[in-house]
Amino acid sequence: MQTGVAGHETGWGGGQVYSWIDDPAARAAAPGLSRRSVLSDLDLSRAEVEALVETALWLKQQRERGEPHPYLAGKTLGMLFQHPSTRTRNAFQAGMLQLGGHATFLGTHELQLTRGETLPDTATIMSRYVDGIAARFAAHDDLIAFMGGASVPVFNGLSERFHPIEALADLLTLHDHYGGLKGLKLAYVGDGNNVCHSLMLSGAASGMHIAVASPPRFAPDPALVERARELAAQAGGSLQMTDDPLQAVAGADAVYTDVHESMGQPSDGGKRAALAPYKVTTTLMDEARPEAVFMHCLPMRRDEEVEAAVADGPRSIVFEQAANRLHMHKAVLLLSLG
Ligand code: CP
Ligand code: NVA
Repeated sequence: MQTGVAGHETGWGGGQVYSWIDDPAARAAAPGLSRRSVLSDLDLSRAEVEALVETALWLKQQRERGEPHPYLAGKTLGMLFQHPSTRTRNAFQAGMLQLGGHATFLGTHELQLTRGETLPDTATIMSRYVDGIAARFAAHDDLIAFMGGASVPVFNGLSERFHPIEALADLLTLHDHYGGLKGLKLAYVGDGNNVCHSLMLSGAASGMHIAVASPPRFAPDPALVERARELAAQAGGSLQMTDDPLQAVAGADAVYTDVHESMGQPSDGGKRAALAPYKVTTTLMDEARPEAVFMHCLPMRRDEEVEAAVADGPRSIVFEQAANRLHMHKAVLLLSLG
């Protein structure tokens, strides 16, 4: 077991991460993603998550030092988005350019998909032009259908079921803040949605203690809860499910929430009413550890899922999370396409 850049135990870190680009033997021994897709958190082993965090930290340092890092020179990323995006789109696009490559962006309404061309055919064609594809489909099933024709790696930039690179970037943010992940308690309070699923799975696989508080009607998918429990048991973490926000937040190192209505969901007054007691307030934050941070994937609705005083207060690290998206997207691109 080696010691990573922040001094915590990792399966792969220290010198190896700095040398693999130039050293084929180190590269072969490291858990890179070697042209694999990332569709959900279940596609990544714990060692791969650690490698991604290490690589993202390394790329972040290079950018902060102003060192060029054009490891993907000559590579092209195709981007296919069905929903709007500020962070994911920019992180992929700017990240690809900073790695020396190129990114092309297409909204799905611009494609022949609108005239009935199938998802697998679209993927087959795109795969002939680009080295990788970043996709944001409303329905995870459409992403799976798209994979039927894809012959290059595909990266899920959010579906209604998962948001894996968001969760990876959030782990990077926590790692940056606390110097490691194992043993940290993260409380997710609110809708058991895509972001909740991904955090629960990636956090559990990283040996964290994850607590989820949501109303039973809007709890995360039981099959994914079961999987997260198994991952937590393997990694020495735990998973607690409750409908009581106070119970989830007690002793937490991080309190996380997301919008109460996700993209593509019909506006539903019943859901908003059910989730109203799950708003993250200063009173709720006071149940967490005194140094606990507040997290949100953004965009946020102040005073709906989180009190503005928390969102804009000293414990909020939401903009660090957004900034770290860039570094994590670059790590995913590099380890898969490099
Ligand atoms: N958090 C997130 O994925 O933001 P965007 O929808 O702006 O990409
Ligand atoms: N759960 C939110 C996340 C947005 C980044 C949504 O799907 O709209």
